Amino acid sequence: MSQLPKHVAIIMDGNGRWAKQHKIATALGHRKGVEALREIIRYSSDTGIGVLSLYAFSTENWKRSREEVDALMGLILDFFKSEIEELHQKGVRIRILGDVEGLPEKQMRTVRSAEDTTRNNIGLQLNIALNYGGQAEIIRAVKSLSNKAMRGEIQLEDIDEQAFQKELYTHDQPMVDLLIRTSGEMRISNFLLYQCAYAEMLFPQVLWPDYTVEMYRQDLQKFGKRERRFGGREG
Ligand code: IPE
Ligand code: IPE
Ligand code: MG
Repeated sequence: MSQLPKHVAIIMDGNGRWAKQHKIATALGHRKGVEALREIIRYSSDTGIGVLSLYAFSTENWKRSREEVDALMGLILDFFKSEIEELHQKGVRIRILGDVEGLPEKQMRTVRSAEDTTRNNIGLQLNIALNYGGQAEIIRAVKSLSNKAMRGEIQLEDIDEQAFQKELYTHDQPMVDLLIRTSGEMRISNFLLYQCAYAEMLFPQVLWPDYTVEMYRQDLQKFGKRERRFGGREG
């Protein structure tokens, strides 16, 4: 395949609408969404995508009903328990983007352990955004740099894009090349704000549980045909 993106980010949106369409509980829509996600991860790993970032739970998603949040938290545990072995075997390295400390105790321990288990893997770098907000990530980076400056460890002149990027969850990874959001919504919803500076964007008109590997393959192909300029002139 020509021009594979190094870093793909996906906003997996539409589980709620999918459940409504099928007249079933929202939680079951999320469950169906996990099935789609499994396939996309597997395909990304097999195709040789470098980094895949998945938006699983935003800092704003706590606003949802207790019932829905509980269902999502339950699915997070199920996912890690059922997938970790296969992912580890495939050489996938898992990293959580977001405030892990703000997750319930059980979820926190489970995701930390998945990170530890897969720490030395050099296959697909799988970022799972949990309790993640792009603004919060930027503020966290600003605080860390400010601290270093106050302690005299860095000079103000040293604060540039490179120094800033080192403070992000994705510090050692490339910027996002391709951002995909399903469900037809065309917004970024606080996902990887800094890293998406020059991302190509695709908005497939299907709800996340209906997003197939074949659609993903086509989206990767569309990316390959995009002309990227990064502010320069074509050609
Ligand atoms: C995205 O699906 C999954 C999460 C936010 C966890 P939604 O639940 O946002 O689905 P819609 O947007 O209500 O259809
Ligand atoms: C973004 O989707 C968050 C995730 C997919 C986890 P939302 O459904 O929460 O975003 P909005 O509310 O439509 O912007
Ligand atoms: Mg949504």
